[in-house]
Amino acid sequence: MDEGTRIGSYSRAQHDGGRSMRILVTGGAGYIGSHTCLELLGAGYEVVVVDNLCNSKEESLRRVQELAGRNLEFYKVDLLDKQALHAVFESSPVNAVIHFAGLKAVGESVTDPLRYYHNNVTGALVLCEIMGRHKVKNLVFSSSATVYGDPSEVPIKEDFPLFATNPYGRSKLIIEEILQDLHRADETWNVSLLRYFNPVGAHPSGRIGEDPNGIPNNLLPYITQVAIGRLPELFVFGDDYPTRDGTGVRDYVHVVDLAVGHIRALENIISGPGVVTYNLGTGQGYSVLEMIAAFEKASGKRVPYKIVARRPGDIASCYADPSKAEDELAWSAHRGIDKMTAHAWHWQHDNPNGYGEP
Ligand code: NAD
Ligand code: UD1
Repeated sequence: MDEGTRIGSYSRAQHDGGRSMRILVTGGAGYIGSHTCLELLGAGYEVVVVDNLCNSKEESLRRVQELAGRNLEFYKVDLLDKQALHAVFESSPVNAVIHFAGLKAVGESVTDPLRYYHNNVTGALVLCEIMGRHKVKNLVFSSSATVYGDPSEVPIKEDFPLFATNPYGRSKLIIEEILQDLHRADETWNVSLLRYFNPVGAHPSGRIGEDPNGIPNNLLPYITQVAIGRLPELFVFGDDYPTRDGTGVRDYVHVVDLAVGHIRALENIISGPGVVTYNLGTGQGYSVLEMIAAFEKASGKRVPYKIVARRPGDIASCYADPSKAEDELAWSAHRGIDKMTAHAWHWQHDNPNGYGEP
């Protein structure tokens, strides 16, 4: 069976003589968080979600529980609300935290940097303070390949120079550094910094997926909205990059593979490694035109597109060397672009308005 859809393999989630591990997932109602909650429930973990629903809907969690056949605990709490977060830790003790909650729109971060720094950086500070107060010192953090800026070569390894090109990326870099400092001050902290490449696709059931607000910024959600008729055509940002066909090349990674990566990272930090960093990508880059072709094949729909000017801030080529995660976490991405595009289409087709009203 598809590893990402297996429900009920409880062995890995046991510790302390068989007591099940409880994991707090911040931002668990969001795109990557919801898929990770499903994998956690499937692997036998108890799941506690904290999300203020600023970019998600509770319906995602209802569907996660329906798919898993198990319940999770949900608290509609803002991470910036220290007292409310403290109360969650009091009433629902946990063994580890996976921290997804954050704002992620690059353009918005440029026009409203203070909101991004406050939400992302202060949110992480409050979370760590409350974790420390409750002696919970195992943390998996959602970082991003954006911390590599415009890399001088590809594939990208974890020890490449780090550079932020916008406030969103800088907030990730700052949080990575804060977590390093936290471990320097108290070595009992274990932190896994996961640098995602380009998460795409949806759960194969078509019940949970990505539900962006407004017009999508990212390529695959834009393509699926053109295919469903919500948008007239795709704009391809530049065909004069030094790549195979002139369009930008990225490392698209299936969201279910990514979710499984978090379980591996969680298992790894329990062994006490200190601060560890992993690229989560496939190691394979695809161009924009290759993604359009793969999507048309998977969906049977045509995607009209027009070549336009480059998007400011975009880079030519970005893909991972994922060998560290393979070697140390026994994790690799199995789902190729056929599944990424087919599952993205299944989700969009069955939920033309996402989790919203039909
Ligand atoms: P998402 O917006 O779907 O999920 C983030 C969730 O966090 C949302 O449900 C939102 O309501 C919640 N949230 C935000 N601020 C909060 C706060 N102050 N308190 C409580 N909840 C809050 O985004 P996603 O795509 O699932 O991304 C998850 C994480 O992964 C983010 O940190 C993001 O920066 C990072 N990331 C995402 C991508 C990507 O392309 N999707 C790539 C690299 C890294
Ligand atoms: C974007 C973010 C990055 C984030 C990543 C994953 C920017 C500048 N960067 O990167 O910080 O970590 O998403 O969420 O927003 N494209 C089109 N037409 C479109 C949309 C995209 O041609 O309508 C092209 C882009 O030029 C790029 C590729 O498709 O070559 C992928 O774009 P996108 O999905 O936005 O991801 P990134 O640019 O990698």
